Amino acid sequence: MSLNVENATVIYPGTDGRPPTEALQQINMTLDDGDFVVSIGASGCGKSTLLNLIAGFLAPTEGQIILDGSAVEGPGADRSVVFQKHALLPWLNVLENIEFGLMLQGHTKEARNTVAGRFIKLLGLSGFENSPVYALSGGMQQRVGIARALTCDPKLLLMDEPLGALDALTREKAQELILQLWHDTGKSVFFITHSVEEALFMGTRLIVMSPRPGRITHEFDLPFSRKFLDGTSARSVKASPEFIEIREEVLAIIFADEEAV
Ligand SMILES: Nc1ncnc2c1ncn2[C@@H]1O[C@H](COP(=O)(O)OP(=O)(O)OP(=O)(O)O)[C@@H](O)[C@H]1O
Ligand SMILES: [Mg+2]
Repeated sequence: MSLNVENATVIYPGTDGRPPTEALQQINMTLDDGDFVVSIGASGCGKSTLLNLIAGFLAPTEGQIILDGSAVEGPGADRSVVFQKHALLPWLNVLENIEFGLMLQGHTKEARNTVAGRFIKLLGLSGFENSPVYALSGGMQQRVGIARALTCDPKLLLMDEPLGALDALTREKAQELILQLWHDTGKSVFFITHSVEEALFMGTRLIVMSPRPGRITHEFDLPFSRKFLDGTSARSVKASPEFIEIREEVLAIIFADEEAV
């Protein structure tokens, strides 16, 4: 899998007499097999717009998105999205939600159950297959959303603030779960968050974006997720001097942007 965002600019047309918004300006980004790229930046700097371009929900005003050598022209089964709000189908139970993409692809009930069963187990949802989704906690609903995204075996997982609504403890556990899944399944990930700590802990690369118009202003290569997967506890990784130093550096960049607005 190889993704190239090439000189992508997005200008949303103004409605009701308002001027157009330049949400992204000349974005260049690459994402290769096994990368975990995290995007961070102030609210409105164009993170979701960038994710929507990669998902194929939106076309760039200028530039192009190239996935494995071909221009992205719409959504496809090679990319799955986990939304900030779980976006599950409330009239279906847990199993039916997880199987939904496979059903659209025309797989038999038996084949669907086999694949869904694997992810139900992997995400700790065993025993809840027949529960209605409204009866689950927020963290469990988010795990159903992740399981649903994984069943279609996408090459690239696109996650827009997937953990933003969770309490601190559940959030830390979910971070570890996602890193373990990333490691075990070999997927590539594009991940958006507002939390600097989460961004540094999860990513192999961090892109910091600036608002109006949205640009990538800084990039960092990150070693921390590998340290966790090699056996260091998440808390020790996050408390290490190396982690704290880069955390303060990224916070200073983001605070400077906020003041400039
Ligand atoms: N469909 C749209 N039509 C017009 N303007 C839009 C549309 N979607 C987003 N925008 C504008 O584009 C800019 C970037 O929005 P985007 O949602 O990509 O930001 P974001 O970085 O994801 O913000 P947040 O962190 O708050 O989710 C904002 O100024 C927003 O108002
Ligand atoms: Mg957003």
